[in-house]
Amino acid sequence: MSGIFISFEGIDGSGKSTQAKRLADALRHLGLEVLLTREPGGSPGAEEIRSLVLEGAPDRWSAETEILLFTAARRDHLEKTILPAVAAGKVVICDRFADSTRVYQGITRGDLRAKVDVLHREMIGREPDLTLLIDMDPQTGLARAKGRQTAEERFEDFGLDMQVRMRAGFLDLAQEFSNRFRVVDGDRDADVVADEITALVRKALV
Ligand code: ADP
Ligand code: TYD
Repeated sequence: MSGIFISFEGIDGSGKSTQAKRLADALRHLGLEVLLTREPGGSPGAEEIRSLVLEGAPDRWSAETEILLFTAARRDHLEKTILPAVAAGKVVICDRFADSTRVYQGITRGDLRAKVDVLHREMIGREPDLTLLIDMDPQTGLARAKGRQTAEERFEDFGLDMQVRMRAGFLDLAQEFSNRFRVVDGDRDADVVADEITALVRKALV
């Protein structure tokens, strides 16, 4: 039996990590085998790349270098973690995947989407079976993200204008890949959001 690959997407602070964990708990409760993972990271090599890309000054890497680093991390994560788990019949829940590169590296510093797509086709070649986009007002998302106080703030420092463009970028992707995207309103109580997501996933599993 083959498993299923589910990704969470959305701007910083939209509630992806919270909801990914809650979905994993809900599905385990139903007796399913679940692997909860995240990007950048999710395998030992990709976690090393994670610190390189998320820490330090905002101008530490150009957008082009970031595309290479995120794709390298994703390739390792896919080979070592995601594909073996899907092959073993597990539900793989991933906090961010290639749609984040399409938005963050594809639109934030010029139009680099074509470069993201070329590398994705050659090196990754796999989309999630289902993508849950947690849509959120950027001001609320940014306030939530800033409340966390971590060293991984390179991208949160983009500011509000950019978060507005990224939200629009994610909603555009939801239209482009409408077969696998489901858009969920994240500006509600976490329990309400979690119930809607569990219902969507149960529908996709049958
Ligand atoms: P993301 O992974 O998208 O950056 P998180 O799940 O880490 O978002 O959530 C960011 C912050 O907002 C956390 O402090 C979390 O506890 C809080 N949070 C998550 N979901 C909600 C919600 N529905 N309502 C209020 N606060 C929330
Ligand atoms: P994440 O830990 O999910 O941050 P958050 O919880 O704030 O949403 O991701 C870290 C940052 O990495 C986030 O600001 C988005 C960025 N990122 C990219 O720029 N490109 C990518 O391909 C991925 C996966 C993440």
